Amino acid sequence: MFSDRQLPQAKYELLIENKRIGLNCSRALRAAGVVVAIVVITCLTVYISWRSLKSVDDRGFVKKLWELNLKNYGPVERLQHRAELYGSALKQYLDSNQSYTVIAVESAVINRSSNDVKTKTFRLVCYYTLPSNGTGGDLMPEEIDPSLCTHINIAFARITNGSLQPVNSTVMGLYNRVSALKSRNPSLKVLLTIGGSSEPGSFGTVSATHASRKLFIHDTLALLAKCKLDGLDFDWEFPAWQSDKRERVHFTQLLMELRDELNRRHSKFIVSVAVAAPKPIIDYSYDIPQMAEYVDYVNVMTYDYHFYVWYLPMTGFNSPLYKQADENGYFATLNTNWTVSYWESQGMPKEKIVVGLPTYGHSFTLVNDANHGVSAPVLGFGVLGDSGFISYPQVCHFVEEEAATVFDRDSRVPYAFKNREWISYDDERSLAYKAEYVASGGYGGAMIWALNMDDFKGECSNSRENWFPLITKVKSVLADDQL
Ligand SMILES: *[C@@H]1O[C@H](CO)[C@@H](O)[C@H](O)[C@H]1NC(C)=O
Ligand SMILES: *[C@@H]1O[C@H](CO)[C@@H](O)[C@H](O)[C@H]1NC(C)=O
Ligand SMILES: *[C@@H]1O[C@H](CO)[C@@H](O)[C@H](O)[C@H]1NC(C)=O
Ligand SMILES: *[C@@H]1O[C@H](CO)[C@@H](O)[C@H](O)[C@H]1NC(C)=O
Ligand SMILES: *[C@@H]1O[C@H](CO)[C@@H](O)[C@H](O)[C@H]1NC(C)=O
Ligand SMILES: *[C@@H]1O[C@H](CO)[C@@H](O)[C@H](O)[C@H]1NC(C)=O
Repeated sequence: MFSDRQLPQAKYELLIENKRIGLNCSRALRAAGVVVAIVVITCLTVYISWRSLKSVDDRGFVKKLWELNLKNYGPVERLQHRAELYGSALKQYLDSNQSYTVIAVESAVINRSSNDVKTKTFRLVCYYTLPSNGTGGDLMPEEIDPSLCTHINIAFARITNGSLQPVNSTVMGLYNRVSALKSRNPSLKVLLTIGGSSEPGSFGTVSATHASRKLFIHDTLALLAKCKLDGLDFDWEFPAWQSDKRERVHFTQLLMELRDELNRRHSKFIVSVAVAAPKPIIDYSYDIPQMAEYVDYVNVMTYDYHFYVWYLPMTGFNSPLYKQADENGYFATLNTNWTVSYWESQGMPKEKIVVGLPTYGHSFTLVNDANHGVSAPVLGFGVLGDSGFISYPQVCHFVEEEAATVFDRDSRVPYAFKNREWISYDDERSLAYKAEYVASGGYGGAMIWALNMDDFKGECSNSRENWFPLITKVKSVLADDQL
């Protein structure tokens, strides 16, 4: 059944075998035996690979990494949620019977003639997750270079109980401290992102009726004004996906009514939306031509394309720019170029498309350390990171510890491995390719998730001169293209 499904370099004999066993009741016991064996082998392998990493503990390596894990992980809870939803799109494909051999983007639909951009300035939109509490390790507002990004999105304001969560003095203080960066760069815009780990269904409730939308818009605009912020970024993951289908329409209505209200007030508040990358979610969640009328731009979350999931346990790139030569069908859509082209072909003007670039990566534990390529079998998340999410300092420490690194020519991203630890990440080179893609393609700019995941203390280079090396690289490539 998987054979016609174009799995890249499928190593799926095991899965197929499992299916056959499942069909036959009389073999249930054998199946149970196999499951137990797999569990035992998995545990053993994870343990052994962990031990082998741990063997370098004397040098403080693993210890340092674990300490890093404990810090800077404000965003993980939410990142993991999105990764799961992206995974659900993949799973839908794997579970479906159609062989999903879409999906050439109709290049004819893309209006290339509107692409005479010469004097363009690009947005550099950076997400900043608030420190959970001011003790140690966290990135504080004052440590952000005010001229690094053009826009800073504060993550997150949450929705509880059908309305925007009241903001207490501690949080308000933090908003003000981010906002204060504007005194050192008057053109900086600071936006508030609403979403994150808002309770499930909260956006659905808020957007469901005219009355609830009106109240939400009123509360939100009051909060923006109170905190001297410049706009609003919606991070609803994701309207109508695995929930009420009407949410798609409700979301468009929310954006429309917000735009009307801003027009009525002659307000210059910016409205942006963080949007999905996988095709099934895009198709379910967004009415793109309408959205395009009401938003200033969308931040396309072109990452988390591959990470460890039990139903597709293989290595892959977090944020490939292009497809691998041997990827077909659905798998050929799991890259930045495909997603961005698709958004464009569906009616989002390219100057409103802000392309997502990650400063984080994903770790995996290989089944076999001799099989360490792309699409190699894996057992789970790597030792590094929190549920496999790794920050750039973790990446550079790992790479420094004599990990082998490979730069993939197809996808224009690196990976690294050592023993059974395998990581996909972005470095200055891969981000330069992506920034160049944004600039030469005439898109609206680059979005970064996140300031907190870059090397904000200059640990990688041991130099205080070299804070935020990744975002700095993106900025410089975008700036070159303005010349
Ligand atoms: C998939 O195909 C199998 C056999 O061809 C069929 O029994 C099953 O109902 C199909 N599932 C769906 C969701 O169409
Ligand atoms: C990028 O996407 C476009 C539109 O789908 C496609 O025509 C082009 O071949 C892609 N580029 C690469 C290098 O894959
Ligand atoms: C493409 O864009 C140009 C300039 O914006 C416009 O005049 C033209 O009508 C557009 N063509 C289509 C097919 O939308
Ligand atoms: C801040 O975090 C530290 C460590 O996580 C914890 O011990 C401390 O109680 C927290 N402080 C506040 C005010 O929440
Ligand atoms: C949610 O709203 C209801 C009704 O307005 C109220 O009774 C309840 O206490 C609220 N819950 C929370 C957690 O604020
Ligand atoms: C303020 O709100 C934040 C986020 O809801 C919460 O973590 C924090 O404990 C609150 N602080 C105070 C002093 O109430």
